[in-house]
Amino acid sequence: MGETIWEAVDGLIGEKLVSPEAVLEAVLTANNDAGLPAIDVSPAQGKLLHLLARMIGAKRVLEIGTLGGYSTIWLARALPADGLVVTLELDPRHAQVARSNFEAAGLADRIELREGPALKSLEALGSEAAEPFDLVFIDADKPNNPNYLRWAMRLSRPGTVIICDNVIRDGAVLDASGRDPNVEGARAALSFMADESRLDATAIQTVGVKGYDGFAIALVTQ
Ligand code: SAH
Ligand code: DHB
Ligand code: MG
Repeated sequence: MGETIWEAVDGLIGEKLVSPEAVLEAVLTANNDAGLPAIDVSPAQGKLLHLLARMIGAKRVLEIGTLGGYSTIWLARALPADGLVVTLELDPRHAQVARSNFEAAGLADRIELREGPALKSLEALGSEAAEPFDLVFIDADKPNNPNYLRWAMRLSRPGTVIICDNVIRDGAVLDASGRDPNVEGARAALSFMADESRLDATAIQTVGVKGYDGFAIALVTQ
């Protein structure tokens, strides 16, 4: 067993449950044409984010790490017409591709992309006294996971769901002595969720077309 069967099963899940939608397929094609790295969530994971957002009746979503906007669009399609995804992206080239994808998907009015270092955008958001977010998806530079989680807490309310991507990293998350900053970021995300008394959390390991990794999922309890 290994990657071959994971990919085949993701294929089956895709066929049976995630039915390829032209809008989302077009995003991946545009990203590929623009030379963006294929580090978006998988279709099955995108649908999981989408369903979680619908399950909690999310209207306001915060995403940290846009890339070409594949996960953004899965999330935006889960919202009512007056819903909003605020998505944060550092790389101007990624942001440009994402904006064009949002237009093409007809979702530009439901997505606000803020370009620049996420920590700067989060500071701005914090000073704007906007409504709290219902769901936060953290998927950017992993060493900043604890900082993003701190901001996610500040911009949340009891009931907000916080999801952090890439917390398993082929199991490298076990390696407490490793120096890989991405793995340290994964470990730090789990530790943050463990230590923050206002969060109740779990993590699920995922396999499939994107290899072996995982999501941490937390509920803000107070
Ligand atoms: N969520 C996307 C994938 C995001 S990949 C999807 O699933 O479709 C991670 C993204 O985070 C990259 O586009 C990268 O440029 C961005 N990023 C890295 N460091 C950042 C920072 N400091 N602030 C904002 N975005 C950052
Ligand atoms: C990487 C980043 C991601 O967000 C991801 O889902 C997979 C890989 C990376 O930087 O390698
Ligand atoms: Mg990711």
